[in-house]
Amino acid sequence: MTQEELFKKLVAHCKEYGFIFPSSEIYDGLGAVYDYGQNGVELKNNIKRYWWDSMVKLHENIVGLDAAIFMHPRTWEASGHVGAFNDPLIDNRDSKKRYRADVLIEDWLAKQDEKIEKEVEKARKRFGDSFDEEKYRATSPRVAETAAKRDAVHTRFAEALNANDLAELRQIIIDCEIVCPISGTRNWTEVRQFNLMFSTQMGSTADGASTIYLRPETAQGIFVNFLNVQKTGRMKLPFGIAQIGKAFRNEIVARQFIFRMREFEQMEMQFFVRPGEEMRWWQQWKETRMAWHRALGFGDDNYRFHDHDKLAHYANAATDIEYNFPFGFKEVEGIHSRTDYDLGRHQEYSGKKIQYFDPELGQSYVPYVVETSIGVDRMFLQIMSAAYTEEKLEGGEERVVLRIPAPLAPTKVAVMPLVKKDGLPEVAQRIIDMLKFDHNVAYDEKDSIGKRYRRQDAVGTPLCVTVDHQTLEDNTVTVRHRDSMAQERVAIDALPALVEAEVSFRSLLSKVKA
Ligand code: GAP
Repeated sequence: MTQEELFKKLVAHCKEYGFIFPSSEIYDGLGAVYDYGQNGVELKNNIKRYWWDSMVKLHENIVGLDAAIFMHPRTWEASGHVGAFNDPLIDNRDSKKRYRADVLIEDWLAKQDEKIEKEVEKARKRFGDSFDEEKYRATSPRVAETAAKRDAVHTRFAEALNANDLAELRQIIIDCEIVCPISGTRNWTEVRQFNLMFSTQMGSTADGASTIYLRPETAQGIFVNFLNVQKTGRMKLPFGIAQIGKAFRNEIVARQFIFRMREFEQMEMQFFVRPGEEMRWWQQWKETRMAWHRALGFGDDNYRFHDHDKLAHYANAATDIEYNFPFGFKEVEGIHSRTDYDLGRHQEYSGKKIQYFDPELGQSYVPYVVETSIGVDRMFLQIMSAAYTEEKLEGGEERVVLRIPAPLAPTKVAVMPLVKKDGLPEVAQRIIDMLKFDHNVAYDEKDSIGKRYRRQDAVGTPLCVTVDHQTLEDNTVTVRHRDSMAQERVAIDALPALVEAEVSFRSLLSKVKA
């Protein structure tokens, strides 16, 4: 199965099992907007909890905030979003399809990397045990040629982005002979800038309505509340403010399911530090955030850092944590050193002093900011991509299992009476009543036990508890584990401790360096 086929299956699975539906589907959906179903909302809430607890619970110097989506329009002038929150877009005249020029080039660069990796793999097979990968990479003329071509384009690309040179971006697309995936032609328009912010009106027109924006990032709600939180919380630098909330971007090219949406959710933390200390904190937060991702156990090699080719208007350092999605390594989270740009600009535009008095230095200054910013939906897709597994079982049977880390699973335990009679459903209900105050528990009495296991595997339930006739005699049940499919006989009284040990956030959080 190709990665593309796998991804298609994953998208279908998300719908079939109540994780994700197209928004307003009965009206044929709305581009790049999605709804989360009964299982999706649970997984999403658990992702948010994992993030929130790792920030706010594990750090004494990080507190939370929930700012409004609507903000004073001057906010977005000060932040630079009105002037500079643009994507370069290009159209193919034959297919009439619109693309992000930078993404077309990034995809071309990624293809060159793939070409190099394929060469290396071919050589590995050819040379067998005697293969010296380092030497091969350094000496193979084919690898050298592709790498040189790639690096030259990469340099041009970074320079064009930083100089905002739209004509050069187009020229790179032409020179690299990039074709439209739909029409297959190179009949490209000029590259134009496109502002990504959605706007709407506040107040009635008669009253003199004003244009306001749907926030394109949650961060600005944190910046404008910096003094409120610092003063009322008596916070001392360094300290952080964490927030989870919706953000909106009129994405030109919304592809790959929930990877790029027009309405999405962000989990952002702004960490305020002394000027001059930002690089140390940026390094520290890179490590902490990477540990948070790797603690999920999806394989360390599937994550990597990727430094930005173009720094945003507010940043002096920026890197992404990328995950190896079925469609290649792509950004899940950004870690940005935002200098004193935002607080400084809000100070300038509002006319209000936004400074911190540092008692140790005996002076006031505008703090610097290191931000960690991750999309909830993108994290959701990352987990689903990593968790979706098709397995062949003994006897030729197949199962689809979502290997979602147990604390994040939508349902933690499914309780199943072997038959719908003889008092077994009543015992199952008593077990549910015992567990439901602490965990999401499901009841399932339909079909054979095998079919019921398959249903729970498909939504990632880590534990199934079967009540049978022996239960009536000795108060024991069968516990079946999702990943190993191993079964054990356990006393009903022992269930709360067993479930807790398997699904608690404690073990997951303790792997994250605080
Ligand atoms: N405050 C900084 C900021 O917003 P960003 O790199 O534009 O930085 C941060 O976005 C994260 O938000 C991304 O790494 C991604 O996970 C998520 N994100 C951004 N745009 C998105 C979109 N259109 N759909 C889904 N997630 C998105």
